[in-house]
Formats: sequence, structure tokens, C-alpha cells
Amino acid sequence: MNKIAIQVQQVFEDRFGDAPDHLIRAPGRVNLIGEHTDYSEGFVMPVALENAIWIALRPRADQRVVLHSLDFGETADLNLLEPQKHEKGWQEYLKGIIWVLQEEGWELTGWEGVMSGDVPMGAGLSSSAALEMSCLRAFTEVSEILWEPQTVAKLAQRAEIEWIGISCGIMDQLISACGVAGHVLFIDCRNLKIQSVKFPEEIRIIILDTKIRRSLIDSLYNERHSQCMQAANILGKPVLRDANLTELEDQSSNLNTLLYLRARHVISENIRVQQAVEAIGNNDLNYLGQLMRESHTSLRDNFEVSNSNLDTMVECSLSTPGCLGARMTGAGFGGCAVAIVKKEHEENFINLVRNCYRKKSGLDPEIISCIPSDGVSRLAPMT
Ligand code: GLA
Repeated sequence: MNKIAIQVQQVFEDRFGDAPDHLIRAPGRVNLIGEHTDYSEGFVMPVALENAIWIALRPRADQRVVLHSLDFGETADLNLLEPQKHEKGWQEYLKGIIWVLQEEGWELTGWEGVMSGDVPMGAGLSSSAALEMSCLRAFTEVSEILWEPQTVAKLAQRAEIEWIGISCGIMDQLISACGVAGHVLFIDCRNLKIQSVKFPEEIRIIILDTKIRRSLIDSLYNERHSQCMQAANILGKPVLRDANLTELEDQSSNLNTLLYLRARHVISENIRVQQAVEAIGNNDLNYLGQLMRESHTSLRDNFEVSNSNLDTMVECSLSTPGCLGARMTGAGFGGCAVAIVKKEHEENFINLVRNCYRKKSGLDPEIISCIPSDGVSRLAPMT
């Protein structure tokens, strides 16, 4: 059994005097292609990670939620009968889930648990969505709430938008809920239709953490969202998903340069994601790599969410043997890049890129070889 899974169960037993009734796992994600498209109802292609948040828990007879986080060394102790107060930190995600479930009219049962995870935080790998989905799953285990992946993902997204204040799309919560081992998911963020696409075994997905964390990311993200909405509005469309490149060019004089560039990214990125699905289907992995490179260029020059460390990481990757494609991943402004690499070059690639990035940036990157995994799951606790 996974090391963290064992640890949360052992600590649970030490703190609460008995074995937990439930064991929950909610993964982070890496997005292969389709960046900043989800909130314009476009296409994305993420993968659920092995890295996940785990909670060992059991129901309580009273209306409290007591959750100890091993990673923060803190315990949340919340009363479900009192309205939650806004503060800062990891507990807000739990409070947001309580808030949204009660908003939806669910009667909640209290629970107590121990939580820990290995999704790097603030790295663009959706540690927050993993936290939200693990807390949500905990409530569905102890209360009479139906776990329907699309519906619960939307609830968690609402909590993030309305409680946390980030106008995010649906990608992170949905892939955490629906991930399929060995597959990338092609998601249409308009109707939430999901197609799981088997990822070729001869290729590795490598995650490259620049170790740069940017603090103003929430407001920069919300700003990009609102620019996309403004651009769509000027183009006479509900969202950018509905616009094509010809329409954009025909109406380019109505848009200022900034809005033109933002729209150009989203519209072209949606095309790239659809081409990427075909490329995987045709086993044309060089073309998949090319689409990833084009995605990075567009995120850097049109959407302006890359930074010099991400660019360096992508350059280091692309100049290393065996690498088919690389790009920044997630919201941007820091965090991670993702690369696809021929399996036989994996080890060498990791060493060379580590050295290259170290030399150019002075920072030690974290490099993770990604194994596409299942979405949120409940496992039998150890007896
Ligand atoms: C964050 C958001 C997602 C998505 C990505 C960018 O991870 O939570 O909804 O918009 O950024 O693709």
C-alpha cells in the first residue's frame, strides 16, 4: 500500500484510538495540452497523477469536522452548524466544500480524519483541486450524498470560485474526479463529455518543477479570465469556444492588441487540443510534440503567462535527446513544465535537463516521471 496511505491510517489510530472507517485518495493533475481554454468552454487534455491527497476518516456523532493535516501540522476543528468564517490557508478549501454542500441543501454528517499528500503545492499540479475533491469525497462517504463525478466536480469548482475567489474552469476538479490509469482524458469543457485516450507506452510524461512560485497568481488568473470574456463579447460570441480564427482576423480591428492576442491563444489552443487527440490516435508522437511546442509559444507570446524560468525549462527539455515536445503547464507564472520523452531516453533526459536548468537558473528543479493514474477513489482501510 502507498506510504502516505499507511501513514495517515497510523496517525489516525494514534490520535483517535481506533482504525479509520474510510480511506480516500484524490489525485493532482498535469495538463498535456489545452491551457487556459476551460473557462472559455474549450478543450483540455489532462492526466491524473499518482501524486495525491489521502484522508483516513470516520464519521462523528456530533456536527463537527476535525481534520488533522500532517503536512501543515495543524488541525481544523469546524462546527457544521455555525457559518464558516473566511480566513487564509488550507482550511479554506475544506470550509468552501462545507459551504457549497450546505448551499446545495445537503444535510452533512460530521467526521474526523487525518490528511497528507504528495502533490507539490503551488506548482500548477492542482493540489487545491485534490484537497477539495478529497474533502468532498469524505463527505459523500459519511453523508448520504451521491458521488456523480461531473456533478461533484462542478460543486468543487463553485467552491473555488465563490469561496476561494478564483474564477477557475472545470478542468482540475474534473480530472481529479475522472482520471483513468494509463490514459489522458480529452475533455470538452462545454458539455463535460470525456473521452479517455490510451497514452502510448513508448512515451513518458515528465513533469519539471521550476521551483518558482508567484504570489499574485490569483489576480493575474482572474484578469486573464476577464480578458477572454471581453474578447468574446466584442466578437459577439458567448465565449471564445464559439469563435474561429477567420472571425478573429475579420474583426481584429475591433479588438485592442492585448485582447486580440488573448483570443488568438484560446482559439488556436482549442484547435491544437483536437489535433493532439488525432495525433495520439494515429501514433504520430512527433506531431503531438510539435503541438506542445506551439502551445508553449502561444502561452508565452499571446497569453503571456509563462516566465523566464518556464521558458528556460522548456528550452533545456527541447534541446535534450529523446524529447518530443515540452511546454509550461497549469495556470503559469511559475510552477511546472511538462515534456514528452521517448521511454529509452527517460533517465538520461532527467539528468541532462536537471543540469541544464541548474546551470542556467541556479535553482534545483524537482522532476517527476508521471504515471497516468485513476481519479478519486476509496480504498479499503488496513485492518
Ligand atoms: C488553473 C485552473 C484551471 C485552468 C488552468 C489553466 O489550473 O484551475 O481551471 O484554467 O489553470 O489551463
